Amino acid sequence: MSGDDKRVYIFDTTLRDGEQSPGVSLNIEEKLAIAQQLARLGVDVIEAGFPIASEGDFNAVSRIAKEVTGPIICGLSRTETADIKRAYEAVKGANRPRIHTFVATSQIHMSHKLCKTTEQVKEMAYEGVKLAKSLVEDVEFSAEDAFRSDLDFLCEVFDIAIQAGATVINIPDTVGYATPWEFGEFVKAVRLGVPNIDKTIISVHCHNDLGLAVANSLAAIRNGAQQVEVAVNGIGERAGNASLEEVVMALYTRRNYLGFTTNINIREIYRTSRMTSTLTGMQIQPNKAIVGKNAFAHESGIHQDGVIKERETYEIMNPEMLGITSKKLVLGKLSGRHAFKLQLKSLGYNLEGETLEKAFFEFKQLADRKKEILDEDLIILMDSQILGSSEEYYHLEYLQVSSGTNIAATSTVGLRMNGKLLEEAACADGPVEAAYSAINKMTKLPVRLETYSISAVTGGTDAQGEVVVSVSMGSNTFMGRGLSVDIIEASARAYINALNKIIKVYPDLKNVSVVSE
Ligand code: KIV
Ligand code: ZN
Repeated sequence: MSGDDKRVYIFDTTLRDGEQSPGVSLNIEEKLAIAQQLARLGVDVIEAGFPIASEGDFNAVSRIAKEVTGPIICGLSRTETADIKRAYEAVKGANRPRIHTFVATSQIHMSHKLCKTTEQVKEMAYEGVKLAKSLVEDVEFSAEDAFRSDLDFLCEVFDIAIQAGATVINIPDTVGYATPWEFGEFVKAVRLGVPNIDKTIISVHCHNDLGLAVANSLAAIRNGAQQVEVAVNGIGERAGNASLEEVVMALYTRRNYLGFTTNINIREIYRTSRMTSTLTGMQIQPNKAIVGKNAFAHESGIHQDGVIKERETYEIMNPEMLGITSKKLVLGKLSGRHAFKLQLKSLGYNLEGETLEKAFFEFKQLADRKKEILDEDLIILMDSQILGSSEEYYHLEYLQVSSGTNIAATSTVGLRMNGKLLEEAACADGPVEAAYSAINKMTKLPVRLETYSISAVTGGTDAQGEVVVSVSMGSNTFMGRGLSVDIIEASARAYINALNKIIKVYPDLKNVSVVSE
C-alpha cells in the first residue's frame, strides 16, 4: 500500500439483498453467525436486514446491532414513516447505527410501481431522510434504479437528500443494465452535478444481470465512489450483487495499478464464503472466481508443470493468502482434543469450553465413520454446528434403506416430531424417494421437491456427501442442506432441514402432521 492509496469502504449486503436470493431464508442464529464472520472479515458496514419486512428480520437486525461489534450496522427502509421508525428500533442498539432509506427515481418505477409524480418523489426523499436523521446521525439515501433515471432529476433528488441530512449517497444499478464505461461516467456526472456531495460518501450498488456488477463497481470507484455495496459469493436478487471477494481481490491484486485499499482481512475470505454457502444453501459454481473449487486448480500438464516450477506462472493470487489451506491430511479417530483444537485454530476457529466439547464430540462421531478428517471436513463441521444449533421441530432419529438393481427401494424412517418418536416406511423407485416418501407420510406438509444436488466435500471414496435441496410450498421455496458419509442419510437430513425452515415460517402447519401413538 502506498501513502497515496485511497480507502474504499466495503458495505456488505449479504444479509439483506443476499437473503433476497430465491429460496434463501436464514434463521436468526445463522444471520448472527454470518454477521460475526463479516466483522472478522473486516467489512465497514453490515446491512443486516429490512426490519419492516418481517418480525424475523427485525429480530435479527436488532440482535446483530446489539451483539456484533466493529462494523456500522445498517437497516433498510423505504421512505415511509413506519419503515424508518422500525429500522431505527432495530439498529438503535448498535455502537454505530445507520438507517438506509430508499425511493425509486426512474420514470418506469415512479409511474408504474410507486404511482407518484416527480414532485411527490422529491418530497418522499426529503421527508424520509429528515425523519431518519432525527433518529440517527448516519443516514444513507438510495435512489432505486438510479442508473435508468433522468440524470438531472436524479441530481436534484440527491441534492434534496443531502439538504435533509444524508451522509451517504448511493447510486444503484438496480437491474444490472449498465456497462462499465457508462457507469463510470454516470457516477462522475452525479459527483460533479450534485452540490455538497463531496461532504458525503458516494456509494454504488451494482446488480449482476449482465455479469458486469464487479466491473461496474470498479469503474465507479475509479470515478469517485468511496463505498461499494457487495455480497459474499455475489448472492442477491436475480443474478445477484457484485461479489465481495471479487471486488476486494481485484482492488488488492491490482493495487499498484488502481491505487485503492480496503480494510478487509483477506485471510478470512474463504471461510466467509464457505460459511455463507453452507448456511444459505447456495452452492458456489466450481469456476467461480476467487472461491470456486477450480479457482486454483490446474488441469493441463503444461500448467501443472509451470506451477510446480514457479507458482506465479499461472496464479495471480496465493490461495493460502485467502485462507485456502493446501494441507491435506489432518486428523483421525485417534486425534485428541488438543490436536483438534490446534487444527481448528489454524483454520481460524478459536473454540473453548462447551463449544469446543460439542465440536469435539461431533468430530469423534465423524471420525468413527471417516478415516481421514481433512480441513474441508472441519470447516463444514464448524458451519454445520450453526445449522444444527437452532431448534428442530423434526429431527431424524434413524433411517434404514434397502435398494439395489431390479428391486424396489424401501426405507424406514424414525422421526422425532416435537419430542414424539414416529416411524414410517415407504417404497419407491430409488432410496432417496423412498426416504422422502416415508418422511412425507409423517409430516404431511403440502410440499414439492424442486431441486436436489449432491457433491463430495473432499476427494476420496470415504468423502462426506453434501446434499442441497430446494423444497417449495405455495409460492415460497426453502433450501435445505444435509451432510453425512452416507449419502441417503445426507439426503434425508437436507430434506428435513428444509422442512424445519418451512415449519418456522408456517408454525400453524404443525397441526397437519400426524401424531400417532
Ligand atoms: O438494488 C437496489 O436498488 C437495492 C436498493 C434498495 C439499494 O437493493
Ligand atoms: Zn439491490
